[in-house]
Amino acid sequence: EPSLAFLIVVFNVAFKVKATCCVICRFNVDIYSFHINSTVTSRYAVTVITSRVANRLNESKEVHFQVKIPKNAFISKFRMTIEGKTYDGVVKEKEEAQQQYSQAVSRGESAGMVSSVGRTLEEFKTSVTVAAFSKVTFELTYEELLQRRLGKYQLLINAQPMQPVADFKIDVYVRESPGISLLEVKGGLNTNELANAVTTTRSGTEAWVNFYPTREQQTKCDVCGENGLNGDLIIMYDVDRRNPSGELQASDGYFVHYFAPTDIPRIPKNVVFVIDRSGSMSGRKIQQTREALLKILGDLAEDDYFGLITFDDRIEVWNPELLQATERNLKTAKDFVRQIKDNGYTNINAAVLKGVEMINKHPREGSASILILLTDGAPNRGESDPTRIQANVKEAIGGKFPLYCLGFGFDVNFDFLNKMALENHGRGRRIYEDSDADLQLQGFYEEVAVPLLTGVQLNYTGSSNVTQTRFSHYYNGSEIVVAGQITDNSLETFQAEVIAVSKNSRVTYQDSVFMKDIAGVLPQHEHFTQRLWAYLTVKQLLEKEMTLNGEEKEAARKEILDLSLKYEFVTPLTSMVVTKPEGEETQVAHKPKEGENRKRMPQRPAWGLSCSSLSPCLSVIGVRFLISSLDQPKPVCYDLPAASKLRLLTDPSSDFSMNGELSTKGFNQIALHYKTDYSLMLNTSHILYHDGLNDVMFLWGQEPSNVSLILRIEEVDVTMGTVRVVLFRHKKDGEMFLWPAVQQQPNHVGIQGIFGKNNLEYEELPGSVIKIKDQDVKATWSTAADYRRSSAPVLGCWLVPYKSVLQGELSDFTVSQL
Ligand SMILES: *[C@@H]1O[C@H](CO)[C@@H](O)[C@H](O)[C@H]1NC(C)=O
Ligand SMILES: *[C@@H]1O[C@H](CO)[C@@H](O)[C@H](O)[C@H]1NC(C)=O
Ligand SMILES: *[C@@H]1O[C@H](CO)[C@@H](O)[C@H](O)[C@H]1NC(C)=O
Ligand SMILES: *[C@@H]1O[C@H](CO)[C@@H](O)[C@H](O)[C@H]1NC(C)=O
Ligand SMILES: *[C@@H]1O[C@H](CO)[C@@H](O)[C@H](O)[C@H]1NC(C)=O
Ligand SMILES: *[C@@H]1O[C@H](CO)[C@@H](O)[C@H](O)[C@H]1NC(C)=O
Ligand SMILES: *[C@@H]1O[C@H](CO)[C@@H](O)[C@H](O)[C@H]1NC(C)=O
Repeated sequence: EPSLAFLIVVFNVAFKVKATCCVICRFNVDIYSFHINSTVTSRYAVTVITSRVANRLNESKEVHFQVKIPKNAFISKFRMTIEGKTYDGVVKEKEEAQQQYSQAVSRGESAGMVSSVGRTLEEFKTSVTVAAFSKVTFELTYEELLQRRLGKYQLLINAQPMQPVADFKIDVYVRESPGISLLEVKGGLNTNELANAVTTTRSGTEAWVNFYPTREQQTKCDVCGENGLNGDLIIMYDVDRRNPSGELQASDGYFVHYFAPTDIPRIPKNVVFVIDRSGSMSGRKIQQTREALLKILGDLAEDDYFGLITFDDRIEVWNPELLQATERNLKTAKDFVRQIKDNGYTNINAAVLKGVEMINKHPREGSASILILLTDGAPNRGESDPTRIQANVKEAIGGKFPLYCLGFGFDVNFDFLNKMALENHGRGRRIYEDSDADLQLQGFYEEVAVPLLTGVQLNYTGSSNVTQTRFSHYYNGSEIVVAGQITDNSLETFQAEVIAVSKNSRVTYQDSVFMKDIAGVLPQHEHFTQRLWAYLTVKQLLEKEMTLNGEEKEAARKEILDLSLKYEFVTPLTSMVVTKPEGEETQVAHKPKEGENRKRMPQRPAWGLSCSSLSPCLSVIGVRFLISSLDQPKPVCYDLPAASKLRLLTDPSSDFSMNGELSTKGFNQIALHYKTDYSLMLNTSHILYHDGLNDVMFLWGQEPSNVSLILRIEEVDVTMGTVRVVLFRHKKDGEMFLWPAVQQQPNHVGIQGIFGKNNLEYEELPGSVIKIKDQDVKATWSTAADYRRSSAPVLGCWLVPYKSVLQGELSDFTVSQL
């Protein structure tokens, strides 16, 4: 039965009894498993949250499912499984769904909702009634294209299961064909005690981040309490950019082009800041604005020209013309900024038109002009009709440069600001009223601080339904993404061309991909390019729709609706509806308004073991081990002879040890010991647990009778004290073997065993030499299967003798008895 993919065992592990008992008393509804699985393929992230809940009461109970997802994402799937029966959400037109929803409400049905929370997240909530002693599985999928900001992509995962969970894990997998150049893990969940629950592996084009906190840690960390974890895990990365014309990928009749050249000089700016100083800015807001402006002025380059306008019902200029950012001019500008005082009403129309006039009066060859408006309120002096202000500004700018509108605080008419910015090649941005508002302002400025290209036009041969192809400015640290359909299949190559203006000249970039290569799609990536295209098309249409009227607006809305229904995206025009067990349809999600096929990149040559008379083949019959960490771009591997009994991990301070017996592929036996009384022995057929008094025996895959040992189909997840290990059963060439993946271990010098050496620091030197602990070691570029994952991917690695990695003799790592 497919829903049995996952089993949980409760047994009487004494060091957990207290926690388990409390949880059962406090939470009659027990979330016994909470998994987040995120797969990022070429910046397109698909995240699945799976929560498994048991009603431990002898009566039926309403069970809630509540999670937070990034605002930028579209929900694309929701599913509930109750007593083996699956209830799938269906995406419908919003109005249609809303009618059913109001009927449901009038019948007293509860219904799901998505609402905006904080700066970056939206909350998804729903509930279902679950019979006595029954279980429900909730599964929510959302998709998003990660945007590059300040040189990094950021995947944000929020975890707040609402109670401590025995089987909690977050698994992130990133695959980027040009190679991953940087990987960082941040966020509240990667701090202090929780940091040792994070493990990372990076290998050329792939990266894995896993977060496996124990139940105890979920109640004792900084960002958690009685109700378990509550915080974010943020995975930041960037990709290699060896090809200045970008990365062109195609599959399944669709293409995507990522364009972010780096090796070009910055273009000097003409920038005008239009700053609201009306009465409502008084207090902290005006103070933070002054601080941010002082910092921003300090960051201007000497060949930039700038202007400052402050306004309430009157307009005041620091200087009537733009002036160069010389030291002297910056000094008087800073004095002007320090004296900005709040006062009076808000005349946005006159202030923005003044800024446009100043830029228009200052044409300069080879420069990029930018107008930035900061306001916290609605126009209420001078021209105060938003539609007329928008028309005036659009006419004055005439498409010549972008206008960015920053809306400060909650009283702004953000729709008005966003629309005005979008009509002028810019965008609106909210500045949240908080202690870090000055940093938010600076952060926004940094994104537009370094223009590298203007007038960017991208063209693609034989294509249609292409997303936006004209961009007024391209800034350092960002990325232009274009996707479309390939219509002409008779072409030999699919070509991309980019024409733009750089500091000194017009530039052209070209790239192409062979159509015959496009045919060979990896099955798992078959639809990724198409979904990315649909996501980007809907996102851009939602922005464009805001600036349109009448029939054009209707046409855009229809296109958004059609695509959202086809690709099952929950957008502001659609809703997710699910038919619950009671037979009632309920709306579970709608979106709040607010504002590998690929081109075949030359792979790293598969050197493997190179045997020659000069360097004879290392023909040890051994088993290969991998070591990887966040700080090292490439893993290191080493071989150990088969048939040894090895010390895998010992922590004398918590009385934990794990030993294993190596056969030819992996381990045939692994033993874990905790304190004197507890042990877990595994071989490839049996799992034997001993708690001092009783022995409990399981078979792999068996459903046991009754939490600190979690049995999944080909894995056992064990927590003992401060160590959490997932033990996998693999099969290769018909032979079964075991392999442990230490998901968590304490960080202190007392740790011993071969898996205790998990933070290897090394340096790559020329000539395939790597330096480990002040020793130069000859290395061979090789490969190793990563048995720490169920899929056992094959990774490239620097093969070195085990002695240099383990810093000891084999005898230091062997035991006489498991
Ligand atoms: C586990 O199951 C056994 C037998 O089925 C039972 O005696 C024991 O009390 C159970 N333990 C827990 C913690 O429920
Ligand atoms: C995560 O999702 C990917 C893609 O759907 C799947 O291949 C993989 O098995 C999942 N991993 C886990 C641990 O569930
Ligand atoms: C549920 O259990 C309680 C106490 O064990 C008992 O009093 C009550 O009658 C039970 N309810 C049902 C519906 O069985
Ligand atoms: C663009 O940013 C990169 C770092 O992300 C930096 O190395 C480079 O110098 C910047 N280019 C310019 C022209 O400032
Ligand atoms: C690029 O596309 C635009 C719009 O389709 C077209 O006007 C222009 O001539 C094209 N330029 C080149 C160089 O193909
Ligand atoms: C794509 O473009 C073609 C015309 O080239 C059009 O017939 C088709 O409807 C478009 N498809 C979508 C999904 O917009
Ligand atoms: C695993 O251990 C059990 C109990 O000691 C034993 O009966 C069984 O034969 C072992 N299986 C293998 C494959 O060694």
